[in-house]
Amino acid sequence: MLAPMEGLTNRWMRRLIAETGAVDVVATEFIRITSASQKIAPVERPPSPTELQIQLMASEPEAVGGVIQHLKRRGILQEDDWIDLNVGCPSTKVNARGAGAALLTDPERLLTMLNSMRESHPNGRLSMKTRIGFNSSEDLPMLLNTLQRAPIDLITIHARSQKGRYDPDALEVDKLSYAVETLPYPVIGNGDIFTVEDAQRMLATGVAGIMCGRGAISNPFLFREIRENDNSARSELDRKNELLTFANRYAEALHQEEQELKGQTLIGSYKEFSYWFSRNPLIGAEYFSNVKRMGTLEEIQRFNRSVQNGETKICQ
Ligand SMILES: Cc1cc2nc3c(=O)[nH]c(=O)nc-3n(C[C@H](O)[C@H](O)[C@H](O)COP(=O)(O)O)c2cc1C
Repeated sequence: MLAPMEGLTNRWMRRLIAETGAVDVVATEFIRITSASQKIAPVERPPSPTELQIQLMASEPEAVGGVIQHLKRRGILQEDDWIDLNVGCPSTKVNARGAGAALLTDPERLLTMLNSMRESHPNGRLSMKTRIGFNSSEDLPMLLNTLQRAPIDLITIHARSQKGRYDPDALEVDKLSYAVETLPYPVIGNGDIFTVEDAQRMLATGVAGIMCGRGAISNPFLFREIRENDNSARSELDRKNELLTFANRYAEALHQEEQELKGQTLIGSYKEFSYWFSRNPLIGAEYFSNVKRMGTLEEIQRFNRSVQNGETKICQ
């Protein structure tokens, strides 16, 4: 599964990664729901067979069901959509409003929210994405105890606590086995999958599947590599070429959209992508250093082509 990532898994990125043909599910960036009348952009569905998980962020257990019903009446959500609740965001601002990982501090309140969502969404899948605890993984047994009663079809667990944020040393993949044994629905493992070996380590915990975030942005072909379990059929040059072709298709898609937006620029979305993309050892940090100074998506497309045809060299 492709992880929900604000600023990264927009509809163009979801479509391009789906087109690599090796990912089963792609997730939207979170949609913060507050009231029935709020403005929400239409959600673009990927072409079949890729499935879409629409992630919602909410903080009012009593109101959320009603908002979902309104969103359905307005045609933004459909009866058979797959809705996911964000219970993992560690942002202090978000948590101060009672949303994201803050919901972990009161599991009964979280359960009330999930029950309300289930009631207003009986015919589509419902899931949640969370962490192994708020303060630490010591919260996990108590959390799982409550979550056993959650009316959901699947759970994704990022193997860090809220306090662990994105600290590489805070990842506790082994804790996922405990969740797999305890919960009556499938557990998807998430956290620091950048290589085929990372994926194998995660799968060894017994999880039903894996979700990749930053790893899939730094290498959009990661899902294919995990499935094939072998990279030797492609030379480094072919892989680098494929990566740059992907990046240029993303720049082109954003540029096309810009033309319909009348003056609004989407270059920031490309720069955010290129920050993670340049972490790929075949691309290198100098790629981002170049891109971040550029002023238009056309300039970026020219740069990508010149790197690809060897006119511009970037050291790795
Ligand atoms: C830039 C960025 C934005 C993110 N936005 C979201 C989000 O909207 N919803 C969510 O549940 N998680 C979000 N996350 C967390 C990821 O989905 C994922 O759980 C986390 O990055 C760990 O997985 P990874 O190591 O594969 O990236 C975000 C992470 C990053 C780096």
